[in-house]
Amino acid sequence: MGSFYVTTPIYYVNAAPHMGHAYSTIAADVMARHHRQRGDDVFFLTGVDEHGEPVAHAAEALRTTPQALADENSERFRALMPRLNASNDFFIRTTDPEHKAKVQELLSRIRDNGYVYKGHYEGWYCPRCADFKSDNEIEDGNRCPVHHIELTREQEENYFFALSAFQERLERLYADTPDLVGPRHRANEAQAFIKGGLQDVSLTRAKLAWGVPVPWDAEHVFYVWFDALLNYYTALSYARPDEDLTGRFWPPQLHVIGKDILKFHAVFWPALLMAAQLPVPERVFIHGYLLMDNEKMSKSLGNVLDPLVIIDRFGADALRHYVLRDVTFGQDGEVSTEAFERRYETELANGLGNLASRSIAMVRKYRDGAVPAAEPELREDFDGLAEEVAALIDRAELTPAVELVWERVRRLNRYVEETAPWALAKDPAQAARLDVVLATLMEGVRVVAVLLAAVLPETADKLLSALGTPDIAYAGATLTAGTVTQVGALSPLFPKDLPVAAA
Ligand code: MSP
Repeated sequence: MGSFYVTTPIYYVNAAPHMGHAYSTIAADVMARHHRQRGDDVFFLTGVDEHGEPVAHAAEALRTTPQALADENSERFRALMPRLNASNDFFIRTTDPEHKAKVQELLSRIRDNGYVYKGHYEGWYCPRCADFKSDNEIEDGNRCPVHHIELTREQEENYFFALSAFQERLERLYADTPDLVGPRHRANEAQAFIKGGLQDVSLTRAKLAWGVPVPWDAEHVFYVWFDALLNYYTALSYARPDEDLTGRFWPPQLHVIGKDILKFHAVFWPALLMAAQLPVPERVFIHGYLLMDNEKMSKSLGNVLDPLVIIDRFGADALRHYVLRDVTFGQDGEVSTEAFERRYETELANGLGNLASRSIAMVRKYRDGAVPAAEPELREDFDGLAEEVAALIDRAELTPAVELVWERVRRLNRYVEETAPWALAKDPAQAARLDVVLATLMEGVRVVAVLLAAVLPETADKLLSALGTPDIAYAGATLTAGTVTQVGALSPLFPKDLPVAAA
C-alpha cells in the first residue's frame, strides 16, 4: 500500500463549468478510485482558481464584483463534482484565507531564498489565458494561439521570479526523471521549451487588484498563476481541520492537466518548488482537447456540449464512459452528441447492459437465483487481466486500459451465444454443462464490474449488489470459483427509451 495524491487543474470561475472541466475531473477521479481499490492511501484534490484577469474581466463585463462572480461560479463548480460522481477529498477555493496566507508565506520564502527581484516587463499578454506570451508562441497579427484574440502589449514594473536560475536544474530533472511528464511527446515539448533558454517571469502584477496581496509591497498582487499552482501544496495544510496532510501526501503522485497549461506545470511549477526547497511532483500527465468541429471546446468560442444535460438524461457513468472511450486519453479528439448516443447504445445498453441482464435473468430462471458451485471457464481470457489493466492505468493509458475490459464484455456476450444456455436448459442431460456456463457468466460479470468500478461507479455498484458481492477491492478482480452464490434482481443499467435531447 502506497500513498496516491492526485489533482485536477483548478478551474477558472469566469464562467460556468463545461465539458473540458468535466473531462480533467473524470480522468483524475478514475485514477483516484482505481488506487483506492488497490488499497492505497488516496487524496484527490480539485477546486477553483478565482483570482486574476479572466475573473476580473468577466465580472466587469457583468457589472458585478470579482468576489460576487467567484462566489456564484465556485458553487457551480463545487456542485458539478457530485454530479460527475467525482470522489474528491477536498474542494479548494483560492480565495480561502488559509490558501492566501500560505501563498504569501511560500512566496516570501522564495524571495528570502534569493529568487525574486524587481524589474521592468515589456511583452505580449493574453488576458484570457492570463499568460505572458513570448514572441515564438504568438500567432500572426500578434494573436493568442488559444483564443485568437489580439494580444495586449504590456509594460509594467513588477517583481520577477528568477526562472532562468533553474535552467540547469530543470534540464537535469528531465534527464534524471524521464517519467516526470507524460505522454512522452509532451515531455519533449517541455524539454524543448527549457532548452530554448528560460527567461525570468513576472511574479506580481501592479495593475490588477484582484489577487493575493504581495506581503512586502502593498501596490502588488501575485500573478494569478503562482497563486494557482501553489494550491496543490496549500490545500494539504488545511483540508482537514485536525490534521496537516502535507507530510502524508507531499509530493503528489500525479497532476492531471490539459495541454494548454503544460508550460506552467512542466516548467514553472518544478522551478517554483525547487526555489521553495520542496520536492517536485512525481508525474504530470497531459491530456488533449475535446474538440467540436475541430476547435477546442470552450465557452468563449461557444462550441460546448453541456455535461449536466448529458448527466440528467443518461447518468454520470455514461458521460464518464464516453469521454474515456471515444477520445484516446492523452490525445485530442472530436466529441459529438451523435457519437455519444452511438456509444451509449452499442456498448452500454447492448453490450454491458444486455450481458448483465440476460445472464442474471437466466440464473434466476433456471436455478432460482442460486449460482452453481462450478469451476468457471474462460481462464485464458481473464488470467493476468487485472495486472495488465493496472499497469496501463499506472501509465495513465486510460483508454487502452478500459478497452481491455470491454474486450472481455464482448467475449462474455460471445460466450452466451456460443454456449446457448437456453438450449442447454431444455435438456436435463446438460444440467452440469449449464452449471458451468452460468457460473462462468456470473463470475465474468463480477470481475468486469470490479475492473470497471473506477470508471462506472454507479453501474458497478448496481451489478455487484445484484450479485451479492459488493466488495470492489482490486484483489477480487480475478476469476474465482464460488464467489457469487446467490443473485437478486438487477435494476436497469442503461435504459434505452430516454427522451430525445432538447435541441
Ligand atoms: N485556472 C487554470 C488552471 C490552473 S491549475 C493550477 C485553467 N483553468 S481552465 O478552467 O481554463 O482550464 C482548466 C482545465 O480544463 C485545463 O487543463 C484545460 O485544458 C481543461 N479544458 C478546458 N477546455 C478543454 C477542452 N475543450 N478539452 C479538454 N480539456 C480542456 O487553465
